[in-house]
Amino acid sequence: MPMNILIVGSGGREHALAWKIKQSPFCDSLFVAPGNAGTALVAQNLPIGVSDFDNLATACLENDIRMVVVGPEVPLVEGIQDYFASHGDLSTIQVVGPSAKAAQLEGSKDFAKSFMGRHGIPTAQYKTFQNGELAEACMFLEGMKPPYVLKADGLAAGKGVLIIEELEEAKEALKDTLENDKFGSAGKRVVIEEFLDGIEASCFVLTNGRQYRLLPFAKDYKRIGEGDTGLNTGGMGAISPVPFIDAELRKKIIERIVVPTVQGITSEEMVYEGFVFIGLMICDGDPYVIEYNVRLGDPETEVLMPRLSSDLLALMVELPNEMRGEVEIDSRFATTVMAVSGGYPESYEKGKVILGLPSAAEDTLFHAGTAEKDGQVVTSGGRVLAATQLGETMTESLQKSFAQIEQISFEGMYYRTDIGFDL
Ligand code: AMP
Ligand code: GLY
Repeated sequence: MPMNILIVGSGGREHALAWKIKQSPFCDSLFVAPGNAGTALVAQNLPIGVSDFDNLATACLENDIRMVVVGPEVPLVEGIQDYFASHGDLSTIQVVGPSAKAAQLEGSKDFAKSFMGRHGIPTAQYKTFQNGELAEACMFLEGMKPPYVLKADGLAAGKGVLIIEELEEAKEALKDTLENDKFGSAGKRVVIEEFLDGIEASCFVLTNGRQYRLLPFAKDYKRIGEGDTGLNTGGMGAISPVPFIDAELRKKIIERIVVPTVQGITSEEMVYEGFVFIGLMICDGDPYVIEYNVRLGDPETEVLMPRLSSDLLALMVELPNEMRGEVEIDSRFATTVMAVSGGYPESYEKGKVILGLPSAAEDTLFHAGTAEKDGQVVTSGGRVLAATQLGETMTESLQKSFAQIEQISFEGMYYRTDIGFDL
């Protein structure tokens, strides 16, 4: 029987999820909170913040919502799953996303590293230091080889990792984080780890805590500048599949990383019905885990959803019981190119009118930071639109993404023209 669904979040990931879920025969009314001008094309936006659990719950009851799909990490780490599970009138609503305890896999780097240690999952060597242990931390650094990798323990919106060449500079950074609160409470503990020299890829898994299904691999482009230069961003584009992940590497990733991760979740009795996003570094043909995220990636979701031939909603509905459905994947390439506001990832202006937008709900120009104002669509964030296309080859798909992005314009618009350059 079709059901009403709520997606929590407001970015390109949530628009891509809404676009996909809306195609399912099991989807009746679709809501997004708070959503953006793109999600408004496929769903009804509700003006509720992602951490406002009380009002999200009220909206669920008022709209007979049976499933809540959580996009970003913050409400998961804050315990949205536990909130629904522990309130009698909400406990029958399915939340797609892990419990707060399991969300520590993303919410605490130290928790994630010790989890990997307990389950023999390959990752960089590391040691964690707390506020008050600056001297010990500096001594540990002296025993490491540069570049030095420092990670704030807590959630830091993608800005908590520092990679530093010079020992003295690394010690200064340690002092800033451990003693001067550079990362606020997220930096009260710091993980120092070995630098892994390799090529990155993203692995996505849907699990119910016992079984899992592998979703397509993807690669994102985090730096603002062409040739992967300049500041880190939330992601400037993505590609799926990842050409260098051949059958042999795929087998290693599954055997050494995916299977022990799911077994670890099972054996530690974590409540986990949702997505695991494993950030991988491939070094000399061997995969290592750089990080866990307890959600889908953005902009990776924009390339995953068009390649998923199976009904995602049907797969998610099965999570509380046995996962029987198989994941069918379109063999074509998907690419997404992000149009961002001028100045991003540093300060930028909002409210710029966007011209040339398609109006069809089926379109895969996914909205990230957009809003409606006086009947027009305007920019409302750093990342604005994700031009997403399928093609028989990566080149063809990219050409279509660039053609799509060239249709639109807003003051200060910037995008990278070299997504996929390294593949
Ligand atoms: P994270 O926030 O954990 O995704 O880290 C941000 C970025 O830092 C990653 O995407 C990598 O490019 C880089 N990084 C993190 N850990 C390491 C490491 N141990 N060695 C090399 N690069 C790393
Ligand atoms: N694209 C990286 C992330 O979503 O964290």
